[in-house]
Amino acid sequence: MPRKSLIAANWKMYKTPAESKAFVEAFLPLVAGHTRDEIALFPSVTSLATVVEAVKGSAIAAGLQNMHFAEEGAYTGETSATMLKAVGATHTLIGHSERRQYFNETDVIVNKKLHTALKHGIIPVVCVGEHLHEREAGLTSDVLCTQLKIAFEGVSAEAATPIVIAYEPVWAIGTGKTATPEMAVEAHKTIRNQVAEILGEEVAEALRILYGGSVKPDNACDLMCQAEIDGALVGGASLKPDSFAAIVKY
Ligand code: PGA
Repeated sequence: MPRKSLIAANWKMYKTPAESKAFVEAFLPLVAGHTRDEIALFPSVTSLATVVEAVKGSAIAAGLQNMHFAEEGAYTGETSATMLKAVGATHTLIGHSERRQYFNETDVIVNKKLHTALKHGIIPVVCVGEHLHEREAGLTSDVLCTQLKIAFEGVSAEAATPIVIAYEPVWAIGTGKTATPEMAVEAHKTIRNQVAEILGEEVAEALRILYGGSVKPDNACDLMCQAEIDGALVGGASLKPDSFAAIVKY
């Protein structure tokens, strides 16, 4: 079974609800009738309900950029799985490198969030990736395998079906430096092999692995035309409707 690609927009801390709505209104006609790939938008939490409403009737999904692992509680500033679902969102990013870097998110926290997402039927996009110094030291494979081993701890093969992985080399995020297709394919193969070891061949074969890190309209095809690359997680170039639409329609 071929894997259906997912092309996702990570808007980070950009766009008010009005700006998010304007994006969707401009974007929908640009991708009307596009069925080859799934499309998901990850706006800021204050725009989530607006985006859910704006994409209604289309095949476009909406999700959070970050979700807490607890059901509820005294966690100031956080958003729960129940809250995500209550506004009609379906996806969440987990362990984005900016969360890891600026908010001390660890692999153990990623694992807890993954369990919570699966329990609530939310599609998790788990982000992994190496820093430049790790790549230069030849540690890319070790870093990815460790991140995955801890992230998947206690997850069964049956429960793992909805999981999406995003391979995002930290040095490529927001820097304009993209991994070459060869580098991305090699990392994706490492990820798929590691998931096969943890959860079996069948899960690994069906697993969608996205590439993220300075994806732009002009490099989208080079990356996503590779059989190993099942879509993209796009930051900067997803902020404008025409640029994100060009990536979707590479
Ligand atoms: P970028 O961000 O496309 O701006 O490099 C990707 C991401 O952070 O998901």
